[in-house]
Amino acid sequence: MNQRHLTSASGSAHGKIILMGEHAVVHGTAAIALPIPSISVTVDIFAKHQGPTELECSYYQGPLKQAPENLRNIQEVYHQVLQEWRFCEVPVKLRIKSHIPHERGMGSSAAVVTALVRALATFYQQELPMTELHRYVNIGEKIAHGKTSGLDTIVTSSSQPVLFQRAEVPKSIHSQLDGCLLIADSGHTGNTRLAVESVCQRLKDTPDTQSYLSQIHDLVQDAVSALKDNQVETLGQLMNRNQEFLQKLGVSTPQLDHLIQVARHAGALGAKLTGAGLGGCIIALCPNQEIARHIQQALEAEGLQQSWFLNFNRYQSMEV
Ligand code: MEV
Repeated sequence: MNQRHLTSASGSAHGKIILMGEHAVVHGTAAIALPIPSISVTVDIFAKHQGPTELECSYYQGPLKQAPENLRNIQEVYHQVLQEWRFCEVPVKLRIKSHIPHERGMGSSAAVVTALVRALATFYQQELPMTELHRYVNIGEKIAHGKTSGLDTIVTSSSQPVLFQRAEVPKSIHSQLDGCLLIADSGHTGNTRLAVESVCQRLKDTPDTQSYLSQIHDLVQDAVSALKDNQVETLGQLMNRNQEFLQKLGVSTPQLDHLIQVARHAGALGAKLTGAGLGGCIIALCPNQEIARHIQQALEAEGLQQSWFLNFNRYQSMEV
């Protein structure tokens, strides 16, 4: 057993949105996801002299062992990491500070576990190859959501837009797109596990479902070209068609459909839900900041909770 550790350490990660291809990606097709470096989570670890390992986050403070069921991903990954690294547990306090809204399709669970494992690697002075980080985060994601594609795991620790397809090496997309995305939180929580299970059930029950997934895959391929060739209007149309299939898959809601319509009427080139759906966020593609603000105001008049802007060209200046 190893004992070497620091007295404190931190790890961080960020949120994400899926531009196109959610749900279909669980069944082996492609999806595009964008990291949102400005919406982040930090996990701090402090060594304690005695007592049980504690967890502090916005809705729980107490012994890690007694944390509620929705924090079981953190408990399990924490213990798995210590076991595999052969460290005997020293009492610590884990403090999670997250700006990523929970259950809104923004990758909160993957980002928290990414930040935790990074903090543990620094605390115990361990090398952490990306493949190992992803393996631990996928363990947490299975506990949190059941069946997952692994996309959130990749993109919450990536600095570039990602084209993801299970069983293939994820590719960075070098977007040249002028335009920005408005990410708008409906204020209603989604439920990834339920949404993913309902699409799986639909695949068994409804023969057309498989063809919807294949058509989403084709839209995603066209969207990659649109991103690279700065075809902002084409991308908007592709997003709208993707939304039609998400409706057919049964993961949109009347409330999300309404916000999407409002965004389109206010000038969005395309709009759709993002993530698992059944609540959570919508994204609207805007030709410029001015129209983006106008769309934001139109959505605020409909009870929008919070929103963020994401410029595609910000990625051009970042390291891959
Ligand atoms: C959740 O952010 C996206 C889904 O496609 C599930 C997954 O990819 O694991 C719905």
